[in-house]
Amino acid sequence: MQPKAKFRKDYKVPDYTINEISLDFQLDPNRTFITSILNVERKNPEANQLRLDGHSFEFLSLKLNDQPFENYVKDEESLTLDLSELNLDQFQLCIETAVNPAQNTSLQGLYLSGDGICTQCEAEGFRQMTYMLDRPDVLAKYRTKITASKAKYPFLLSNGNRIAQGELEDGRHWVEWEDPFLKPSYLFALVAGDFDLLQDKFITMSGREVALEIYVDRGNLDRAGWAMESLKRSMKWDEQRFGLEYDLDIYMIVAVDFFNMGAMENKGLNVFNSKFVLANPQTATDEDYMNVESVIAHEYFHNWTGNRITCRDWFQLSLKEGLTVFRDQEFTSDLWSRAIKRIDDVRFLRAFQFAEDASPMAHPIRPEKVIEMNNFYTVTVYEKGAEVIRMIHTLLGEQKFQQGMKLYVAENDGKAATCEDFVSAMERASGIDLTQFRRWYSQSGTPELTVSDHYDEKSKIYRLQVAQMTPATADQLEKANLHIPLKIALYGSDGAKISLQYELLTVSDVLDVIHDRQVFEFHNVPQRPVPALLCDFSAPVRIDYNYTTEQLLTLLKYAENDFVRWDTAQTLYINELRANLTRYHQNEPLQFSNDLLEALMLIVDNWQQDPELTALMLTLPKETEFAESFKVIDPAGIAAVRTFMQQTIASELKDRLLIIYNANKLDGYRVEAKDIAKRALRNVCLSYLAFTEQGNGIVNRHYQQSDNMTDTLAALSAATKAQLACADLLLKDFEEKWHHDGLVMDKWFALQATRPDENVLQIVQGLLEHRSFNFNNPNRLRSLVGTFAAQNPRAFHAIDGSGYRFLIDILIKLNESNPQVAARLIDPLIKLGRYDSQRQTLMRRGLERLAGLENLARDLFEKIDKALQ
Ligand code: TRP
Ligand code: ZN
Repeated sequence: MQPKAKFRKDYKVPDYTINEISLDFQLDPNRTFITSILNVERKNPEANQLRLDGHSFEFLSLKLNDQPFENYVKDEESLTLDLSELNLDQFQLCIETAVNPAQNTSLQGLYLSGDGICTQCEAEGFRQMTYMLDRPDVLAKYRTKITASKAKYPFLLSNGNRIAQGELEDGRHWVEWEDPFLKPSYLFALVAGDFDLLQDKFITMSGREVALEIYVDRGNLDRAGWAMESLKRSMKWDEQRFGLEYDLDIYMIVAVDFFNMGAMENKGLNVFNSKFVLANPQTATDEDYMNVESVIAHEYFHNWTGNRITCRDWFQLSLKEGLTVFRDQEFTSDLWSRAIKRIDDVRFLRAFQFAEDASPMAHPIRPEKVIEMNNFYTVTVYEKGAEVIRMIHTLLGEQKFQQGMKLYVAENDGKAATCEDFVSAMERASGIDLTQFRRWYSQSGTPELTVSDHYDEKSKIYRLQVAQMTPATADQLEKANLHIPLKIALYGSDGAKISLQYELLTVSDVLDVIHDRQVFEFHNVPQRPVPALLCDFSAPVRIDYNYTTEQLLTLLKYAENDFVRWDTAQTLYINELRANLTRYHQNEPLQFSNDLLEALMLIVDNWQQDPELTALMLTLPKETEFAESFKVIDPAGIAAVRTFMQQTIASELKDRLLIIYNANKLDGYRVEAKDIAKRALRNVCLSYLAFTEQGNGIVNRHYQQSDNMTDTLAALSAATKAQLACADLLLKDFEEKWHHDGLVMDKWFALQATRPDENVLQIVQGLLEHRSFNFNNPNRLRSLVGTFAAQNPRAFHAIDGSGYRFLIDILIKLNESNPQVAARLIDPLIKLGRYDSQRQTLMRRGLERLAGLENLARDLFEKIDKALQ
């Protein structure tokens, strides 16, 4: 049977709703009994067929108003009740089912994580436990009773408030929970297990006390403190910046090791991938600390943008995700460095979202057509979605944006809303017309802005001509003009910033690009300016302006805006790579340009101004980042040229880099902005120094002297990337120390997967048998297999097809055990259109092998089907 697509345009208000649900779980890892009592209300008086979603459980019994009920039709994924004879407007259903959590490797519905039991219901996991109107516009009050062995599961958790508990004579105990807030089924959660518990409290702005609880595996209490601090900072920030206060008396977070995604915002009971909770200096890097903080914030912010106001249907996913990502980005920007956060986010967007738009999976932030909803938790819906919210923020300004938020909350609290509800509130609160802007919700693809300019010496008039064009995407051939906020600045060749004037008035630095072609005119411009374009990445677009190297050096030296200086360095690196890739293809010797060397010296010599920005400016784009500036990607060529650039920078700048390396040594580890910046800069220097004659000694010493994971990992990474003599010894030392800790070993697996060694595929294959590896743990799979396929393009795209075969063999297994994770790992393979014909043929053959599977999951079906079209 071919999986069927759903379309946004087919949305219908449900005929029935469920306003109260009472759940009873008799927990057992091998056979859990679930009784669900649903209060059903008929909304459409004409309706007489009630179709409930459900699959992957044993269906035991059904009663309607306490009477056995058999007038139904059951199929693979639903149960349709024929109610035509009864004609009831209100009735009660009681459904008994049983599930087997131990055999549930999909990690959706009710499953085991280690010794604990937990649920994952978003998007459509609830229906794997019992029959339900499993759609986000059905909002109900939940009451949940959990019964289980007290010895094995001392903690029994669900949403809301604990209202009763008791013990049974056979060693079992029970707890009953009630969530006073209406919610859709995807926000339901249950957790049972034995944990260490970190407790704290938060006093809200209106003076209410909230109990904060973080549950971690026994023995991990010393890794929960940072998450707790992050949670309190998030709660405070949401009150201060958005005026939003927490609403229950308790907020719980549980860290689990087996989890398909990052974390889940279930009402009052977040379930987290342990990777985004646990952190201490020995086990977590600076980057891990930042990720924990932002994921904790993200899930917390969902309490308003997601839970109190949820989505009407899954096509509206960006309503909660784009907005919540925007909010977590702002949180990080307000707490740390705004410029650094912006650079990190733009790097990610350009590398992954631009690639998605250029792939068979291209879709608007509000998709029109979905086969498997899990496939639409994408960088487009999340990160491009956040960029769309950010553009609204740019067009409105903070004050009007916050007025818009207030109106949006006032109108939609307690409801299931649409993206249109949000935009409309923003529009009405601000008085700013967003008619054309709305196209960002319905149009996929990355717009291209082509800019040219003209300066008239005599009249002192400067004209910028801007043309917009969005190339066709796999899902959509016709494109309309978008409303694009283009933020600019003008600099004189002496570095002085030129104010933007029209006649005698100062004008906004954000240009409204709305037509195919527009000319923006500026007056009283004293000299031919150098334009800084798309400052702060004011829109998710590509920009094309023919900069001279001289102009780029001017911006690099003088631009006030940190983002612009960083972006200029990126342009210089890309130009350098391009020029050398041509030489590489023509078998000419590679050459490093003096201009770039001059630029690098400038960056290095000014490191004291901003060590962290310097670190980012000295970091070469990854191979995958470079790849995005080519229509047809040559993975071997890019790798070769990039290595050449790395080695040349190392040998040309080694004396300077060594001085900076020595000047930034810290004693002691603290998670503070200043120290993080120093470690970042010092470790970038290390990554280059590794390529010099003293590399082995420096890197080895760095590893031996490290007292924290950031430095330890930097040394390991430098050693493997530069293929130093010490590399294998250090890897072995690390393995002996950490093999018992999967989360820490993920870093080691990822490093192994990105080794530049010729035999890296063999190494990776061997590691599938490693004592710390576990095929059923998504974190392990992602760090070894996922990293190899997505972050080692040279090896994955080996011209003999060995990388593809390796991934496909894994996917064949995963298709049965965990299709959701399979459909994420397949991403590098569906982008076949970006490679030469030889590689394309191999990739296509691999995809066809998968397509031929008898029981192909719809998660994989959807992506393969698109890729093969
Ligand atoms: N809503 C979650 C978030 O953005 C992510 C999520 C979606 C998820 N589907 C999931 C998490 C499935 C785990 C499993 O924070
Ligand atoms: Zn989210």
